[in-house]
Amino acid sequence: MADRPVTVHIDPAFRIAPVSRRTFGSFVEHMGRCVYGGLYEPDHPSADAVGLRRDVLDLVREQGVTVVRYPGGNFVSGYHWEDGVGPRDQRPTRLDPAWHSVETNAFGLDEFMTWAQAAGIEPMLAVNLGTRGPREALDLLEYANHPGGTRLSDLRRSHGRETPYGIRMWCLGNEMDGPWQLGHQTAHEYGRRAAETARAMRMIDPTLELVACGSSGPDMPTFAAWEATVLEHTYDQVDFVSAHLYHEERDGDLASLLASSVGMDQFIDDIVATCDHVRARTRSSKRINISFDEWNVWYMRDFLATGVPTEWVQAPPLSEDDYTVADAVVVGSSLITLLRHSDRVTVACQAQLVNTIAAIRAEPGGPAWRQTIFYPFALTARYARGTVLRVECTSAPTTDTARYGDVPLLDVVATYDDDADELVVFAVHRGQREPVTIDMDLRAFPGYRLAEQVVLHDPDPYARNTSAEPDRVRPQTVAGAAVDQGRLALALPPVSWTMLRLTRVDVTA
Ligand code: AHR
Repeated sequence: MADRPVTVHIDPAFRIAPVSRRTFGSFVEHMGRCVYGGLYEPDHPSADAVGLRRDVLDLVREQGVTVVRYPGGNFVSGYHWEDGVGPRDQRPTRLDPAWHSVETNAFGLDEFMTWAQAAGIEPMLAVNLGTRGPREALDLLEYANHPGGTRLSDLRRSHGRETPYGIRMWCLGNEMDGPWQLGHQTAHEYGRRAAETARAMRMIDPTLELVACGSSGPDMPTFAAWEATVLEHTYDQVDFVSAHLYHEERDGDLASLLASSVGMDQFIDDIVATCDHVRARTRSSKRINISFDEWNVWYMRDFLATGVPTEWVQAPPLSEDDYTVADAVVVGSSLITLLRHSDRVTVACQAQLVNTIAAIRAEPGGPAWRQTIFYPFALTARYARGTVLRVECTSAPTTDTARYGDVPLLDVVATYDDDADELVVFAVHRGQREPVTIDMDLRAFPGYRLAEQVVLHDPDPYARNTSAEPDRVRPQTVAGAAVDQGRLALALPPVSWTMLRLTRVDVTA
């Protein structure tokens, strides 16, 4: 046990921003078995009339996902949305160059919208700016959102979709900075194409919320210069710039993996600085926010070592990572980072939703189950309400990491819902050796008591859930701690994620 307790100061005056419900988004791409064998499996015992797996839908609702980006990812940069609408027996089978897979188009926009309505999520649609441009984006917008009386809106209606979809959020392409992207462009080329597309889309509907592609990650050689150039072209036309970041353990360096959110914090700060630099240069009063629309732990090195299949097959299993307790702690701390930046990050999508790089695993013809990373997401999505509060820790111990230098062992944020009289604290202990004792100063919350303490931890940080043992790792409810004279003392185990729910006791009752 670290000898000195860490004092954790929480105060309702330390307001950052309201909790954005869109922080708890996810991502569905036509990649591997995310769609086929994930969302959609017509022969599955739980499938509905459309072919949607009801067991997966149940888990998506339990996970608390609020918004879902679709249909890619790299896939979208070669996609023809028209192939995926209309009678299924007339849809073309195509090659998907991004994932070297065969795309049957049995699942497309109309099935996705049926699924979105059943899941109760907001759709966020990406348009293809890799092999296509403004014309096709306008066509898709007309098909999706126009009420009727035009060729494409009437085509939608002829497919049994009388009511327009009313999709508000649109991504202008995907990772156009990446040389792996179909139709990869320079920042100037993409900036112009994104601006033209945005301008055209706004002529149809000025109220759309549009996302310009930012960098595929902070390690891209063009990072920051890319955002600056793209925003010079698009500043007046877009609302968000995107950010993508995947964490992974490299060469057995668990300490650096556990500190991944330190890099995420820095990435966000750098993007905000770049957006505000362009704002100053353009003399604009508008602020560009961040849509962090791909983030997760992804064992990308394993994926790159194996590569995509050499044969052309439909929905090959790709990147079906088996997540550990340590990965769940990283997901928990990534959510802490996203919440802490709620003043500028108002949309975030964990990538992806089912099977591929995902919190939910769906066995072909069999059950669907929760990976370790499911739990911090589901609990944060359910209980982070109201306003995000900055949390200050004094005398917090640090540890040295190869990737991020000296990092604090504790990462903490809080949300405060004054209507419901509920304070929720999310904390991660990144250390691997001993528990840390915290002394939480709650004097600014008189009358609050601990209603629930939930911990995700295992003596083995590499413990995972499997199809044979899907409940090996679950969060545990811990009893015993109590607020005493405005202070709460408790110990956080090493490599753990903790949620504390505090509610106000009515002393007059
Ligand atoms: O989520 C997997 C892939 O990661 C996406 O297709 C791409 O946008 C990113 O590189």
